[in-house]
Amino acid sequence: MKDFAGKIAVITGGGTGMGRELARQLVAEGCNVAMCDVSAENMAETKRLCEVEKLPQGLRITTHIADVSIEDQVLRFRDQVAEQQQTDKIHLLFNNAGIGGGGSMVSNPREQWDKTFGVCWGGVYYNTRAFLPMLMKATEGHIVNTSSVNGFWASIGPGVPHTAYSAAKFAVKGFTEALITDLRLSAPHIKCSVVMPGHIGTSIVSNTRKIHTGSESGDLSPQELAAARQRLAALGMDVSKISDAEIQKMSAERAQKFRDEAPMTAAAAAKVILDGVKAERWRILVGDDAHLLDKWVRNDPEKAYELDFFQGFAQESGWALGSQAPQR
Ligand SMILES: NC(=O)c1ccc[n+]([C@@H]2O[C@H](COP(=O)([O-])OP(=O)(O)OC[C@H]3O[C@@H](n4cnc5c(N)ncnc54)[C@H](O)[C@@H]3O)[C@@H](O)[C@H]2O)c1
Repeated sequence: MKDFAGKIAVITGGGTGMGRELARQLVAEGCNVAMCDVSAENMAETKRLCEVEKLPQGLRITTHIADVSIEDQVLRFRDQVAEQQQTDKIHLLFNNAGIGGGGSMVSNPREQWDKTFGVCWGGVYYNTRAFLPMLMKATEGHIVNTSSVNGFWASIGPGVPHTAYSAAKFAVKGFTEALITDLRLSAPHIKCSVVMPGHIGTSIVSNTRKIHTGSESGDLSPQELAAARQRLAALGMDVSKISDAEIQKMSAERAQKFRDEAPMTAAAAAKVILDGVKAERWRILVGDDAHLLDKWVRNDPEKAYELDFFQGFAQESGWALGSQAPQR
């Protein structure tokens, strides 16, 4: 798809981060946008930012509350899009919503694991199913599924388990790659891309916490404090000498650093994604770190989960080792 003007794009997770920047850039190119999120407040801010520039006459930006891990809510989102965008077709589907968490099969509660997997994989699956009939009706369409570098490397470094997110992101990558042939055979006017960002400066760390705890509070719960202690101990720290208040502070700093000290902004990432869609690339790596990690893993897959692999990669890419390593 060379041109987004006059098209209709659906974005999941449009409330913050890359989803918000995708919305802003699409609107700036004259594309109608329908977004969903679990946060009405954040979507209202995205809409406001989209409307800062003078919009072309008749352009529609609609916001819809939906949890992408719950199929009924996704179907309601689809019905609302049809009604409020006054359409029976869409051209672009960005399956972008995602959260971290559920790192350990062994020590994290099952609900947390299932939630992370449900949002990161279920969200992609349910929205693709729900919106496929509307994509079928368009003259051209594109499905853009956001995976991660964790879609080809199931780790954020030694000492930090990362199972739910990685399993989901591998699923998103495998699904999208298989869709290439499926669409070519059965719906050749629809293309698809898998997006694999490296470290992008967004609030995903703090958003993940809010979603898993169901609380806007920045304070860690006793379970979160225990999990943080376990993580720090695994990194070789003597946690008996660290107070809860210090752990609380480290956690807040980690979320802030993840957002503010990333090598790439969400706006720059959204531009790479949209350029990739225009160029009809099925494989969109985002950021120098993502390109570099792709090379490292291909070069020596057997070593990919060893300490010296991570140390070497971290040194070359500038990624932080250990507790500062974010959920990518
Ligand atoms: N930031 C990174 O470094 C990075 C790296 C690789 C991949 N990713 C992926 O990029 C995508 C966008 O993440 P981001 O970094 O912009 O994070 P973000 O937290 O800023 O944005 C994600 C948005 O999704 C929303 N969301 C979460 N759960 C939802 C649900 N169940 N239903 C609907 N909306 C929901 C959040 O409220 C938020 O607005 C995610 O899939 C993430 O896994 C991010």
